Order: sequence, then structure tokens, then C-alpha cells
Amino acid sequence: VVERHWDVTWVWAAPDGYARPVIGVNGAWPCPSLVATKGDEVVVHVRNLLGNQTTGIHWHGIDQVGTNYMDGSVMATQCPIAPNMTATYRFTVDRPGTFWWHSHDMGQYPDGIRGSMIVHDTEDPFANEYDEEHILTLSDWYHDNSISVVQRIINPSNTRFLPVLPDSMLLNDGQGSEYPVDPSKTYRFRIINMAAMASFMITFGDVPMTVIMNDAAYIDREPVDAIRLTAAQRCDVLIRGQDLMGTNHPFLVGMDVNPDYTNPDLPISWGTNATGHLVVDPSGDRGELTVDTWLPADDATWLPLPGACTAMLPAPDRVFPLDFRFCFDENNTPRACFDDNMGDAGPYVPQKVPTLYTAITTGDSNTDPAVYGHVHPLVVSFGQTVDLVVNNHDGAIHPFHLHGHHFQVLERPGSGAGTWSPNDTSRYNQNPPMRDTVAVFGQSYAVLRFKADNPGVYLFHCHVEWHVEMGLTATVIEAPELLRGYRIPEDQLESCRALGIPYQGNAGG
Ligand code: C2O
Repeated sequence: VVERHWDVTWVWAAPDGYARPVIGVNGAWPCPSLVATKGDEVVVHVRNLLGNQTTGIHWHGIDQVGTNYMDGSVMATQCPIAPNMTATYRFTVDRPGTFWWHSHDMGQYPDGIRGSMIVHDTEDPFANEYDEEHILTLSDWYHDNSISVVQRIINPSNTRFLPVLPDSMLLNDGQGSEYPVDPSKTYRFRIINMAAMASFMITFGDVPMTVIMNDAAYIDREPVDAIRLTAAQRCDVLIRGQDLMGTNHPFLVGMDVNPDYTNPDLPISWGTNATGHLVVDPSGDRGELTVDTWLPADDATWLPLPGACTAMLPAPDRVFPLDFRFCFDENNTPRACFDDNMGDAGPYVPQKVPTLYTAITTGDSNTDPAVYGHVHPLVVSFGQTVDLVVNNHDGAIHPFHLHGHHFQVLERPGSGAGTWSPNDTSRYNQNPPMRDTVAVFGQSYAVLRFKADNPGVYLFHCHVEWHVEMGLTATVIEAPELLRGYRIPEDQLESCRALGIPYQGNAGG
């Protein structure tokens, strides 16, 4: 059992030299990394001492098999944790990999309440191929707090849907990015993008890297020069000591705040670079690296490691095409709209009661999308094979994340490919890699497949946190027929009561 007591509080921090209040844990920031081993039970007692805000913690990439109520998605699987209340998250980590945790309430995690999460594999297929491992976290960073950033974006004056640009980028939350390395060893780098918005490009310069994991799915040793990670994606790479020789090696991380090359109103991308170093000789020259062109490898073509459960799932029982566009609501306020092609076109509207509770308490009618309100409910029954298709009608990359599953990426063409055609499935990858967050390019689409074997309520959303606030979320209602009588932990219900959320307690005894 990995057990932690986390008091969530405001603290001052200045990771880029500018002091601002941030949300930390137990009076400190950066927030702690959570490290466990496959099969462990993780228990985190989260006490909300923010005073003026609610919170709720999501364990990004943890599938929560059988524990949907521990997913931490506020107003989807739980009430927010009320000020001065505690919620205990208790779940088993049976998928090894590189993860992270973050608040899933009110666009809050860019205020700092996020951290890395590692689940070690007791049967790591690469165990004999590396000696040590390091974590490298990447993030954009804002001097304003998240609530005011959201107010600037979701504002009638923002008629062209412009983003708020970050003030800086952080490697390892500003705690240093020099890695002492021994040329006789091989290193596994677990690279995590914890940004609110930005994508990052990473290159170790002249040092080759080999991808062994995407999110939390093994990859069959893909040699690459540069990788792109969108918000919330992770990538594990090996770097061989024999390629390090006797000198230090700078590596470069570039922040992409504008993947939309078609929008002349936005500033040029890749404007901000940060350098770290693989340090072989502490007294030696560190050097700097610059690149003019980034050619990131196409992760949709990487092959999964044989033996991992990766054969393409059978033809889908349900296909949900989702069309995404920016839009205006009735107050002329910029929003992000999903058209689920089932009669619900518009932004996601958080409901007054968490969607999981609705699934628990509406009896036989919980298979009817109409009971869920404007959350873009995608209702599937147990065991079905499901295709989620995102048609991105915007010019920029949007990273789409599904809770509760790692999906197969059947097709993910480059920018400008247009919309998906239901009649052309011949291009689907027969040996698809898996991810929990996929980059969908501008004016293009992605086809994602999963098996509905994990009953619960799972958000599917763009992981640009500002776009979540703008409404770019749908909700998979998975096997609701098995959720009747499901029980919600009492401490979550205490927060519901403290916040006046009208839920009558566990139904059905
Ligand atoms: Cu990283 Cu909905 O989450």
C-alpha cells in the first residue's frame, strides 16, 4: 500500500523568478511525485485547505478498473471536495507506466496542483535494457492565476478565440534539468507534458533515443530524433551511455504555443526553447543547442511491443463521430463546441449532480442519453467495441484524452486531411499503438477504438485545460446497466452535502 496524506494549500513559489501564489501540497511546491509498483494499492487522503476553492484529484492514465468513483473528475464522477473537507482516493494500479496526477476542477491544475506518477512494472520487458531512470516534466507557466486566464479567454471580447500565451516554460518545475550520466550506463527518461496548453518538442541533439513507451503502453523500440508531446502525453525513451562518449550533451525542449500555422493572428510557434544537459563531465563545457527545424516522429505509426494486448479490436458495435469547432454561445461568449451528431451540439454543460450519480439513481432509464443533460452522453453497453471519431474543424492541434481506457489509435492523419469518411476504413492500422491522449491535427481527424469493459462514467476531452473550460468535453456512459446500486464513498457525499449538491445518498442499499 502506498499511502499519502496531502493537504492542498496555497503557497508562494517563483519557479521562473516571478513570485506568485500556487497550489501546493503540505505547504510545499513543486508537488510530490507518486511512485508505486504494479499491483499496489494507492491511498491518498486529500484535504482541501484552499479556503476559497473546491478541488478534486484525477490520476491521469490510471484506468480505475472497478473504481470509477476514484477517478476524481469533478461533476462527472464526484462532487468537488468542499473547503476543509477530505476525500480519500483508494485504487489499485494494475497498469505500469508513466502517468501524472492533477486537479480536475475549474481549470485549476495550471495553478500548480499537478505532479508526476510512476507505476513500476514487476515484469518490465525492458528491465535488462537500462540501468537507471529519470523523470523530465515539461510545462507552460502563467503569472496570472487560472481563474483570470479563463476569464480572459472565455470573454465576449475574444472574438477570434485567441489563447492567452504562457509567460514561460518550466522543465522539472524549475528545479533543474542537469542529469549526471555515466557513459557505461543506459538511462530511461520518463518525459511528461503537464502543460495547460502547450505542446513540446524534445530532442537530445546528437544522442539517439529509443521510444519504449507512449503514455502507459509499450512500444517496440522506435528510434527517433525528436518527439512531440501534446498536453498530458508521456513518452519513455532510452538513451545509451555508449552514445554519450566523454563530453556533456545539451538537449533542447521547444514550447509550441501555436500549432495553428493557418492563423496569422497568432505569434510564431517554437519561440521559446530551454536547454538541459546530460552531464558526463561536471567540469566540462555544457554547451547550447539550437535547431531551426523540428521533425517529430509520427507516433501513430509506432509499433506496439509484441505480447502486449494489441491486436486490432473487432469491428465496432458503436461509432460516435464527434465534430469539434470553436463557437459562440447565446451571450456571444467564445466556447468550444462538440456536435455529437445525436442531437446535442454545443459546449459541455456541467450538471448540478455528478453524472455518475445520475447513472446510479435513474434506474432502467440510465441507458437513455436524455437523462444526462448536455454532457454529450455516449451510452454504450458492456462488452461493446466502440469507435470515437474526432473531426477537428479547427486549424490547431488538439490533444484528446479518454478517461478509464487506453484506446487503439486506428487512424490519425496529418493536418489538412479533412473529415473522416465512414466508408474508408482500409487505412486503419492493423497493429495499432495505444495511448490515453492523442494529438489530433488541425483540419484533420482521429479514429480511436476501445472495448467497453470498465463500467463507469468517463470524460473524453481536449486536454488543453482552457478548452475544457470552454466546453470541449463529451462523456462516455459505459455499461450503465451495471451501475445501478453502485456505491459512492461517504466522504464524497459529505462534500456534496456541504456544497448543497442535491444528492440523496447511496440508493438501492
Ligand atoms: Cu488529465 Cu480529464 O484529464
